[in-house]
Amino acid sequence: MAGWLNGLVQWVDARLPVVEAYEKHMSKYYAPKNFNFWYFFGVLAMLVLANQLLTGIWLTMSYVPSGEQAFASVEYIMRDVEWGWLLRYLHSTGASAFFVVVYIHMFRGLMYGSYKKPRELVWIFGMAIYLVLMAEGFFGYLLPWGNMSYWGAQVIVSLFTAIPYIGEGLAQWIRGDYLISGITLNRFFALHVVALPIVLLALVVLHILALHEVGSNNPDGIEIKQNKDENGIPLDGVPFHPYYTVHDLVGVAVFLFVFFGVLFFFPEMNGYFLEYANFEPADPLKTPDHIAPVWYYTPFYAMLRAVPDKLGGLIVMAGAIAIFFVLPWLDRSPVKSIRYKGWMSRVFLIAFAISFVLLGILGALPSTPGRTLVAQVATLVYFSYFLLMPFYSRLERTKPVPERVTG
Ligand code: HEM
Repeated sequence: MAGWLNGLVQWVDARLPVVEAYEKHMSKYYAPKNFNFWYFFGVLAMLVLANQLLTGIWLTMSYVPSGEQAFASVEYIMRDVEWGWLLRYLHSTGASAFFVVVYIHMFRGLMYGSYKKPRELVWIFGMAIYLVLMAEGFFGYLLPWGNMSYWGAQVIVSLFTAIPYIGEGLAQWIRGDYLISGITLNRFFALHVVALPIVLLALVVLHILALHEVGSNNPDGIEIKQNKDENGIPLDGVPFHPYYTVHDLVGVAVFLFVFFGVLFFFPEMNGYFLEYANFEPADPLKTPDHIAPVWYYTPFYAMLRAVPDKLGGLIVMAGAIAIFFVLPWLDRSPVKSIRYKGWMSRVFLIAFAISFVLLGILGALPSTPGRTLVAQVATLVYFSYFLLMPFYSRLERTKPVPERVTG
């Protein structure tokens, strides 16, 4: 290192422990050496988060948050602002990519038992991130002020009216009006652009700090800290930098290929990423033929519709998300990874994944009596994965877990 640079680092380090932090989180953070494909998605989530923040800031430079001008300002960004179309597609495709990446990231956690002791807080911060992300997507979706933005928000906010006594007042308080209006747009803008991104960033920092305190899990679900050499370094660990920084670059490159492929050739993804009704401005007098949320909410929307009663639907939908928070205490298995769990855990996990995807498909389609029945069954399967876990995870026979990580 050049002399002056070394001096600068020492000067800063005497006042702020940057070298210590770099060593703790990068060059001396020992990650298990058997990370596989599923372990790319944490870093990809960080990449997409950075993309959302940067493109969001630039979009804000030309977007006008008012009921009169929002729709036209998005058209202006798409047609007249230099590279505006790219900024907007980076942000809208980025929102869907965020959920693809986060869903895979969560599924990895389910497979390898990454939520189990000692990573309960990592999981809980992750779930808080997921909740904020859902709210962030919802608020952002109103901003282009298209007709689906309008009616989507109308449907979701009016769900609150199902809550006894306070529901009507609560919905009005959220909207700031008797129906969705420019006032609602302004407050959703403030929440989407300022409040929630701050919370999201803070939660991501906590998520990583909590993870680095206990260390990463791995596909074998073995604690690498239990096998250390004479210097106290885990035998099955490698320093995060340079090993995983370089390794993750491969995942980033492949991800960017796919991401830009979608962005350049299918930015609307057949109406799943950008819905066609949203190419028309918001119109309180014209309800779209078929109101469906964006794909990443559809599993929960299908559950909402599967229950005949509005309040009941709301409770089931909220319960479907809330139950994830207590997962670390539902799993009673002596082993973490699905590799060593018994057949019941495997069957339940696969059934859960299938029911989630099925609900996602059903939630995007108009409902029919037949589809409602399938959604009801899928909802039951979804909940049984969690509610029966204390039993099947304890009863089943597990396989012996090796001393050291494999493969
Ligand atoms: C903005 C969203 C998120 C970001 C940026 C993020 C970032 C990360 C990173 C960088 C890691 C370490 C690398 C890896 O294990 O892949 C990680 C691990 C983890 N994350 Fe997330 N995460 C996010 C959302 C979530 C969500 C929604 C959950 C689940 C509810 C979650 C649960 C976990 C768990 C359990 C681990 C530890 C995994 C293990 O060691 O096996 N994360 N996260």
